[in-house]
Amino acid sequence: MVERNEPMTAAQIRQRFVEFFSERGHTHVASAPLVPRDDPTLLFVNAGMNQFKDVFTGREQRPYQRAVTVQRCVRAGGKHNDLDNVGFTPRHQTLFEMLGNFSFGDYFKADAIDWAWAFLTEELGLPPERLVVTVFDGTGEDAPADDEAAEMWAKHVPKGRIYRCSAKENFWQMGDTGPCGPCSEINIYRGDVAPATADQPGTGPEHEEDAYLELWNLVFMQYEKLDDGTMRPLPRPSIDTGMGLERVATAVAGVHSNYETDLLAPLVDEAKRLAGDAIPEGAKEGPFRVIADHARATAFLITDGVFPDKAGRSYVLRRIMRRAIRHGADVGLHEPFMHAVCRKVVELYGDVYPELRERAAVIDEVVRGEEEAFRRTLDRGLRRLNKAIEQHDADRSSFDPDVAAELYDTYGFPIDLTAVILREHALTLDEAAAEQALRARQGEGGGRGANLGGGGSISGYYS
Ligand code: GLY
Repeated sequence: MVERNEPMTAAQIRQRFVEFFSERGHTHVASAPLVPRDDPTLLFVNAGMNQFKDVFTGREQRPYQRAVTVQRCVRAGGKHNDLDNVGFTPRHQTLFEMLGNFSFGDYFKADAIDWAWAFLTEELGLPPERLVVTVFDGTGEDAPADDEAAEMWAKHVPKGRIYRCSAKENFWQMGDTGPCGPCSEINIYRGDVAPATADQPGTGPEHEEDAYLELWNLVFMQYEKLDDGTMRPLPRPSIDTGMGLERVATAVAGVHSNYETDLLAPLVDEAKRLAGDAIPEGAKEGPFRVIADHARATAFLITDGVFPDKAGRSYVLRRIMRRAIRHGADVGLHEPFMHAVCRKVVELYGDVYPELRERAAVIDEVVRGEEEAFRRTLDRGLRRLNKAIEQHDADRSSFDPDVAAELYDTYGFPIDLTAVILREHALTLDEAAAEQALRARQGEGGGRGANLGGGGSISGYYS
């Protein structure tokens, strides 16, 4: 175990991860851009394994059989979507960095488990008695229970801290098709008293979500899911692992939230600095965290060639940006601010991702443009929505979808942004009904589309 007086910084964890696996024969492969190359099944790169998808299936050969990466990922749509959790939980972001080690038909479970354990407990010095693991119990997917992984874990972890879970927790797949397999997750227990044991029903990471932080997912890649849902065994069993840098930095620093780590706290602070004395009394942390996360996603997405617009990936970015801008309005940020927080992103991450520095001027221009456009209608849109909320008939369970359609069409409020604001007032919106109302509205009148170009196709919103 390495003795340290100060907790490691996120930069040190990132570097040590790459070194640890390089020392064990892994080739360090650079992060792929966030827009997947030649993969229409995927909205954004959502895991370290994406760039190796064809290597796992045997369709592509590489000159190495082991790889280590620090992959930028966005989970804001598609199968893995964390957008609605941002600001509400301490552990979710839309953009995060995934640390991963990969074996393409080389080592398998035993080494993956031993190395993950050694990295967490010896390199990072996390307390072994707080680590709890899960393995696949053989239910929910047509694959056998992973007794083998449970036995291997028993070398490191008492049986009482090895939980068995269904496919929902312990069978990983990239999307509806592609490489997949049973997985084993390593969680850190964050409670004050000793964790419960696996023989106590209703306990463990699956049931006591707030007491645990999931750190690392070890996927034992054994199958490829085909279009018709059948599972084809992969030519050679392989390893794909993913550990969120923000989460492991949280555990190492001993803080409660990812947003308190040196990866995100400077962005939260920047948003607060910009708001200054205008921050309303009693303002919560949530909006500042949303701004920090969304500015980071915005800067990286623009760097990788996504620009805010009306459809597909571009519309996801627009939704992310407009959510942040509107949160800013709630916490006293009444002048354009997103470009300034994005500048801080470039400053903070430019050494690790030099492409951010190369695109700094473009990020600045695009963010300013989007912010200025949305601000032209934001205040009026908020007034319209607040009035509709006041007039909402308390007996109706769901909010009027026609108002949500009008807010999109006239004020540029993405439907999901309206849903977020309504959620804050304990109201729900049937988003599908709102989209239908929007289609009807645009079909009839062509849509005024204050800043959306008018009558824009809404196909691809949620692709
Ligand atoms: N590919 C493993 C994970 O994303 O959890």
